[in-house]
Amino acid sequence: MADESKKWVLMVTAQTPTNIAVIKYWGKRDETLILPINDSISVTLDPEHLCTTTTVAVSPSFESDRMWLNGKEISLSGGRYQNCLREIRSRASDVHDEGKGVHIEKKDWEKLHLHIASYNNFPTAAGLASSAAGFACLVFALAKLMNVKEDQGKLSAIARQGSGSACRSLFGGFVKWIMGKGDNGSDSLAVQLVDEKHWDELVIIIAVVSSRQKETSSTSGMRESVETSLLLKHRAKEIVPKRIIQMEEAIKNHDFSSFANLTCADSNQFHAVCLDTSPPIFYMNNTSHRIISCVEKWNHSEETPQVAYTFDAGPNAVLIARNRKVASLLLQRMLFYFPPTPETDLNNFILGDKSILQDAG
Ligand code: ADP
Ligand code: DP6
Ligand code: CO
Repeated sequence: MADESKKWVLMVTAQTPTNIAVIKYWGKRDETLILPINDSISVTLDPEHLCTTTTVAVSPSFESDRMWLNGKEISLSGGRYQNCLREIRSRASDVHDEGKGVHIEKKDWEKLHLHIASYNNFPTAAGLASSAAGFACLVFALAKLMNVKEDQGKLSAIARQGSGSACRSLFGGFVKWIMGKGDNGSDSLAVQLVDEKHWDELVIIIAVVSSRQKETSSTSGMRESVETSLLLKHRAKEIVPKRIIQMEEAIKNHDFSSFANLTCADSNQFHAVCLDTSPPIFYMNNTSHRIISCVEKWNHSEETPQVAYTFDAGPNAVLIARNRKVASLLLQRMLFYFPPTPETDLNNFILGDKSILQDAG
């Protein structure tokens, strides 16, 4: 390091959107490397609405690695953070910033410490995939700071070691996490199926039923399901492989009927697995169930489905409308059945396309 004055700080800020699975990941075959028991497919949301912003900084004056999440210091001692930091550090390259007089050589990265500040613009640990946006953003920002020369696929395999779903947030559009065959994790990574322009008619509306932190984290919930649910074994082996093929076809062909049927069925099966877990896990609540009934009734009153719903490990509904017109009708119906009063849980909507507010009246 040319500069021994300890006065410089080098920083990188990145922003990463969250992703919501339409064919769910639930269950690991390796807890440390985070290797899943089935492939999964997700849609990456628009970064404007649900995203993580992370700033990573390095300075010779920092005495240890530290991290703040939503303004509160958190411990980096957990294996997941350490695994991501180690994987990125081992791939770091020289960094030269002439303007600041900073010259960092590859070997210096082992000694230099990091300060990390991350902020989610949506509820953390409430079933809206904060771990996905969070770890994807962390890995992406660190890779930029340390001049890591790996492609997005390799970076996705590192983000996977922070949180499985994070590997899918490094790409936009529809993304598949290939479970991989090996046991070292090198082939368990994300690939983009189609980019965000491919099916831009779709509008996503998120109904925030509760922004409270969930009682059972995804990590411990899926561990308990792997240990106790027979339905999960059947799902991973017999059901998901077929659904993955059908979902890829539906996405490629803009086949909304098939897309909606698969998305709803997979969400419902995932929550059935949670019920089949001992002791059972309840991520959805009464409001979630009422939203499902409302959408099901609507879909059955039409010739083909208009709206797909999916719920992650929490009560919040992710509603995917086939087009803008349907999205504005959906919003009208939601506001009618779940008026934003203190009595209803449903007090907030995150709109994938804010302009539908005008259409919804
Ligand atoms: P979610 O449904 O929100 O993904 P999880 O139980 O999977 O909930 O994960 C929540 C955990 O993810 C948090 O307790 C925290 O450890 C981690 N996390 C959330 N946001 C971030 C972030 N921005 N940066 C790093 N880690 C994060
Ligand atoms: C229901 O990726 O949060 O959202 O790998 O233990 O961090 P860890 O779990 P996480 O699990 C996500 C589960 C899900 C479905 C999905 O995103 O595919
Ligand atoms: Co998560």
